[in-house]
Amino acid sequence: MTSTLQRSGVPELLDLHPAAADMQQLVIEGLSQTPKQLPAWFLYDAEGSRLFDLICQQPEYSLTKTETALLQDQAMAMAAALGEGTLVEFGAGSARKVGPLLQAMQQPAYVALDISADHLAEACTRLQQDHPGVPMLGICCDYSQLEQLPSHPLLKHQRRLGFFPGSSLGNFTTAAAEALLRQFRRLLGPGGTLLIGIDQPKATERLEAAYDDAAGVSARFALNLLQRLNRDLGSDFDLDQFRYQARWVPEASHIEMTLISQREQTVQACGQTWHFAKGEALTTETSHKYSPEAFLALASRAGWASEARWSDPRNDLSLHLLKQAD
Ligand code: AVJ
Repeated sequence: MTSTLQRSGVPELLDLHPAAADMQQLVIEGLSQTPKQLPAWFLYDAEGSRLFDLICQQPEYSLTKTETALLQDQAMAMAAALGEGTLVEFGAGSARKVGPLLQAMQQPAYVALDISADHLAEACTRLQQDHPGVPMLGICCDYSQLEQLPSHPLLKHQRRLGFFPGSSLGNFTTAAAEALLRQFRRLLGPGGTLLIGIDQPKATERLEAAYDDAAGVSARFALNLLQRLNRDLGSDFDLDQFRYQARWVPEASHIEMTLISQREQTVQACGQTWHFAKGEALTTETSHKYSPEAFLALASRAGWASEARWSDPRNDLSLHLLKQAD
């Protein structure tokens, strides 16, 4: 059932009641693989989200700061290239990046999609206060599973301008990233465009430092995953017996983030006993880096063509504006 919540001073929220993931099943699948791995989104419980925000403030992790500055500096040019329409942000989270675009666009409207109803309500309420004249809608949904966006006045006649900042695409395997870009194309419909942030390959030392900061926040972020599993699934991971490692794998063009078992050990989880050899890795996430050429090749396989690209002065990352290929 679809329900609409509308209160005065608070933007409209639409709850499509996304199905809760079967974490237990996903843990069994992930720990059965070689190497052992778990879905990256498991990292984001309340504590994980707090730690991720803290990562974004570390001097070594420049992605968020650089992208935010690029959006601010180039908002006018981006708004001009985007044209008129409704901005649709995928996985809006706390929606802290869209402000300059809303400011620069002519008569913008904004639709935020996120799996967390709480995040949506909070983000849209704050954003509406900052941009009182902008029509806004929050949709609680799993956008990867949607057949189409719900019919709503904000999505009806306007062009849909997708927005996917943060280089979140990096957490997906190449095949999954291609499928997601195809899904965006479907949801944005004919004439839809997509503004997407993509982090690029850079010097190994910079990449490895960004994902293993001196203050140890990245390590705490990864280890928190084990704590979360212990709490939510009753597993008995011993956090002291795993050490965090972030490694740039040039052949794969990704950072591989792992927890390395410090000794031979067994862990009870989901009613099963899991064996870890000494030195065995559990992959918590990978973060793919795409050169502009590599990204556009991937996008093209998903039916997208390049319209424009903006980059920071160091050419660390890009915001690509994609249009649908004919
Ligand atoms: C949210 C996927 C963009 O890969 O840079 C940062 C996640 N993990 N540090 C990234 C992350 C550890 C981040 N993304």
